[in-house]
Amino acid sequence: MPVIAVIGAQWGDEGKGKVIDLLAQKAGVVVRFSGGDNAGHTVVNPYGEFRLHLVPSGIFSPHAVCIIGNGVVINPAVLIGEIDQLNQCSVDTTGMLISDRAHLVMPYHILLDGLEEEARGGKAIGTTRKGIGPAFADKAARLGIRAGDLLDKEALLERLRSVLDNKNTILTKIYGVSPLSLEEIYRQYCQYGERLAPHIRETTIILQEAVDRDELVLLEGAQGTLLDPDFGTYPYTTSSSPLAGGGCLGTGLSPTRINHVLGIFKAYCTRVGEGPLPTELKDETGDLIRERAHEYGTTTGRPRRCGWFDAVAAGFSTRINGFTQAAVTRLDIFDILPRLKICVGYKLNGESIDYFPSSIATLAKCQPIYEELPGWQAPIDHIREYEDLPLEARQYIARLEELISCPVNLISVGMRREQTIFKTPIL
Ligand code: GDP
Ligand code: IMO
Ligand code: MG
Repeated sequence: MPVIAVIGAQWGDEGKGKVIDLLAQKAGVVVRFSGGDNAGHTVVNPYGEFRLHLVPSGIFSPHAVCIIGNGVVINPAVLIGEIDQLNQCSVDTTGMLISDRAHLVMPYHILLDGLEEEARGGKAIGTTRKGIGPAFADKAARLGIRAGDLLDKEALLERLRSVLDNKNTILTKIYGVSPLSLEEIYRQYCQYGERLAPHIRETTIILQEAVDRDELVLLEGAQGTLLDPDFGTYPYTTSSSPLAGGGCLGTGLSPTRINHVLGIFKAYCTRVGEGPLPTELKDETGDLIRERAHEYGTTTGRPRRCGWFDAVAAGFSTRINGFTQAAVTRLDIFDILPRLKICVGYKLNGESIDYFPSSIATLAKCQPIYEELPGWQAPIDHIREYEDLPLEARQYIARLEELISCPVNLISVGMRREQTIFKTPIL
């Protein structure tokens, strides 16, 4: 059985949670490798409907060991809340593991995320305000506190004291807000530590052993490629890498052990937060897609901006991730549209270009060049075989395959696990 990295191919919310939940039924291990509780992965299965922020979406599979990898930043309060909610729904989380190297989101990260956003004024990034950016900044600045630190209370106190000194200086001197209490945070995080201790450990060996036993291993991406701090629409990005490469760094698995990279695309594009979205529809079609698909953020509830499928961005995403296969989700959302558009190039200063510019100023000047395809205007959410899809739906998929130079193996036509068409087997 292979190792598959499951990657958000656009601006996040492509349906990674659904696909992981589906594939995890055969998996030995599922590892989340990036982001934190900025992610919101929706899973609809026989246990119910869940919005997971930190627990891997493979948690419903009784045979899969779920790991929160070293590349994730963890808000312990959110994680504990999620575990409790899952347990209330009879989902067993006892075997879930947390990498001792994973960094923690601390109260000052959340506070600073909000203060930094306020300070940006009209140039705010539109972050989820979950403290993710400040937590990753501290990781790079070597000011982070890690899950493993929760296991040694004395060392935790010493570490927290020195870091909090630094943070309180910033909070009081730069932002003019009250300092945070060392005793309170320490007490709170000691409690979290007691609760999470049975899950925290070194996780790279367990992962490696599963690969050696030839079990199916899924690397669960969070966010999407175009939110990557290097290759996304910087600075309107997140702060850890959602790319397949991030899957190695965020788990400790070697790049030579990944067999397949599965790119998850929505049949159209969405984005939540600020930053360029070249095919954005600020008209009734955009509103129609948003309402029909209920495109509101899983984590923040903000309306998602909607636009046509952008094959320029998708081709870029395919290249930098090396997708070996793709999944297209939410195809059913198009059931009522008479005509569909795909962006096949950009017009920049009167010239056609087919690459995704690195500068947001350049991207803002790009006008999408559209190709039109007929819609199918019939419900498809009950269809389970590719051949049973209307001709126009198959033509749409075939055109996407051509444009992104990658086979589409899986098509999703509804939220539920079984609302899935395997055009060609993934496993
Ligand atoms: P993720 O962050 O990539 O896991 O995606 P989200 O869960 O944030 O957003 C995807 C949304 O689309 C969720 O509400 C899913 O339940 C829903 N979804 C996934 N696939 C399909 C599909 O094929 N059709 C429809 N209608 N909804 C889907
Ligand atoms: P999933 O895993 C969609 C976006 C935020 C904001 C930017 C920076 O559910 O696909 P951050 O809080 O990370 O500093 O915010 O990134 N963002 C996401 N958008 N889906 C996500 O995760 C996201 N995680 C972060 O909206 O624009
Ligand atoms: Mg999401």
